[in-house]
Amino acid sequence: MNTDDPIKRNVEKDSGEELSPMAPPEAYAPSTVEPVAYKDMHPLLQILMDEHKAFVKVLDNFETSLTEWQQNKWIFNNSINKNFKELFSFLDNSTPLHNKKEEKQLFPLLHKRLLKSGEHSGDDPPKTGVDVKEAEHIQVAQLGALCLNFLGLGSRVKDNEDREMIFELAYNQGKEIVEIMRLHIYREDETLFPLAMKLISKEEFEKL
Ligand SMILES: [Fe+2]
Ligand SMILES: [Fe+2]
Repeated sequence: MNTDDPIKRNVEKDSGEELSPMAPPEAYAPSTVEPVAYKDMHPLLQILMDEHKAFVKVLDNFETSLTEWQQNKWIFNNSINKNFKELFSFLDNSTPLHNKKEEKQLFPLLHKRLLKSGEHSGDDPPKTGVDVKEAEHIQVAQLGALCLNFLGLGSRVKDNEDREMIFELAYNQGKEIVEIMRLHIYREDETLFPLAMKLISKEEFEKL
C-alpha cells in the first residue's frame, strides 16, 4: 500500500491506532473472547450477522472491481459500474439501517456492561469497543461520500492527468472503505457480539 498518499496519511493520523485503515495482519488474530456459535447467538445478533454477510459480498465485489478499474487505467465497464453502484447504494440504504439497529438497540447497554466489566481503555472518560465501532460507522459514511464525489468529479474533468489523479484518490478511498469495513465486521462478529452474549442476559435481550 502506498503510504505516501496524502489522504491515507491524514486518515491514519486522525484516527488513532484502533481506526487505522492500515490494519496489520494481527488485527485478524483470533479474538481472545470466548467464541459463541451462530446458532447460540440471540436472534437480534443473528440478524446483524446475516446483514454483515450480505455486506461482505458487496465489499468483495467492489474490491474486485476497484482492482480491475485500476488495472484498466480507469476505464469503466458494465461489471465495474454495477459493483460500484451496488456498494454506494448499500452504503446509502442498507448500512444506515444496520448501524442504527446496532447503535439504538445493542450499543447503549453493551457499552455500560463493557465499562462495568473492565473491558475499556485507560482514557478519561474510558472508551469501549462500542465507541470505536460508532466512530467507524461515521468514518465509513464519510469515506463513501468522499469516494462518490471524487468519482463524479473525475468523470467531469477533461484533462487526462487531472482525471487520473482524482480517480486514484477515489480508488484509495474505496480500498479504505473495504479494509475498515472488513475489520469492523470481523470485530463485531468475533469480539463484540460474543461479549454481548456474555454480558447481556436473555431477558435483557428481549427488552432491547
Ligand atoms: Fe457496526
Ligand atoms: Fe455491524
